[in-house]
Amino acid sequence: MRVLITGACGQLGKCLQDSFKESGHEVIAAGRSDLDITNSDLVESFVLAHEPDAIINAAAYTSVDKAEVEPDLAFKVNAEAVANLASAVNKIGAFLIHVSTDYVFDGASTRPYREIDSVNPMGVYGKSKLAGEKEAEKAKRYVIVRAAWIFSEYGSNFLKTMVRLGNERDSLAIVKDQIGTPTYAGDLAAALRAVAENPPLSGTYHFSGGKHCSWYEFARKIFETCVDLKADFQIPVLDPIPTSDFPTPAKRPAFSVLDGGLLEARVGIREGSWCGALRAVCSKVLQTDDSAVQ
Ligand SMILES: NC(=O)c1ccc[n+]([C@@H]2O[C@H](COP(=O)([O-])OP(=O)(O)OC[C@H]3O[C@@H](n4cnc5c(N)ncnc54)[C@H](OP(=O)(O)O)[C@@H]3O)[C@@H](O)[C@H]2O)c1
Repeated sequence: MRVLITGACGQLGKCLQDSFKESGHEVIAAGRSDLDITNSDLVESFVLAHEPDAIINAAAYTSVDKAEVEPDLAFKVNAEAVANLASAVNKIGAFLIHVSTDYVFDGASTRPYREIDSVNPMGVYGKSKLAGEKEAEKAKRYVIVRAAWIFSEYGSNFLKTMVRLGNERDSLAIVKDQIGTPTYAGDLAAALRAVAENPPLSGTYHFSGGKHCSWYEFARKIFETCVDLKADFQIPVLDPIPTSDFPTPAKRPAFSVLDGGLLEARVGIREGSWCGALRAVCSKVLQTDDSAVQ
């Protein structure tokens, strides 16, 4: 299979490259400088030139707070550009795998969200991603995978921020009343590869990293893992605070746990394990930090 990965230099894009490299599939890894997905002419000519069997769209505008002041750009990348990809795959009969987010939900649910549950995004980012889902649905063959709280050794994410701040601060206030599911980008990449290899019916599916928790609990686990890996790692004092004490430009859902049962039932893809991935990711991040200091 020939697979085109867009947004190949983001954290999911890099994990997709790692995963597909092991698989023997032919991979065209296109970062933003190779393929700006907002450029419709370029998308069409690039896709026609490479004729992939599948496109995995890992490109996105992902700054949740900044999106509140840059809504046009967020919609351009997260929605209009997805229309370019859907149109291009339809021209060559290819398959579009598009990644979306738990932030399409408003967090009012008391049980994990299923794919059939009503969406109601709270901020511009979630709204733009929801609009992108509608564009992806215009592909004749598509799968949308909603994921949540992605972390990895690459790029910027909560885990890397915690490790950095842990080194710098004596204490940290972390939100305790937003509940979600951390998802290792490597687990998501493996799931997306399985989707590409054995596509389920066109539709929307949920995938996340297993056990749900609060940001505070996630931070605690990260620091426990770091100190276990590196005896002189200083754990800051963690202060669990309510969201109301940490106002951000974008509102976030209080509860955005995704039920991944449909993907498992349809094609046997089981949820990931953020707890299982944590040690290896923290180890890589700590090593990078050490070499940056030297
Ligand atoms: N991060 C999360 O917690 C999270 C949670 C749920 C769902 N998701 C979704 O998961 C997917 C992957 O997210 P991620 O965490 O890997 O994000 P990321 O690390 O921010 O990567 C996104 C990539 O898209 C690229 N990009 C931005 N605009 C582009 C354009 N016009 N054309 C081509 N590439 C462009 C970015 O390039 P630059 O670096 O040059 O801007 C970046 O490399 C996204 O669809 C995101 O919405 C993320």
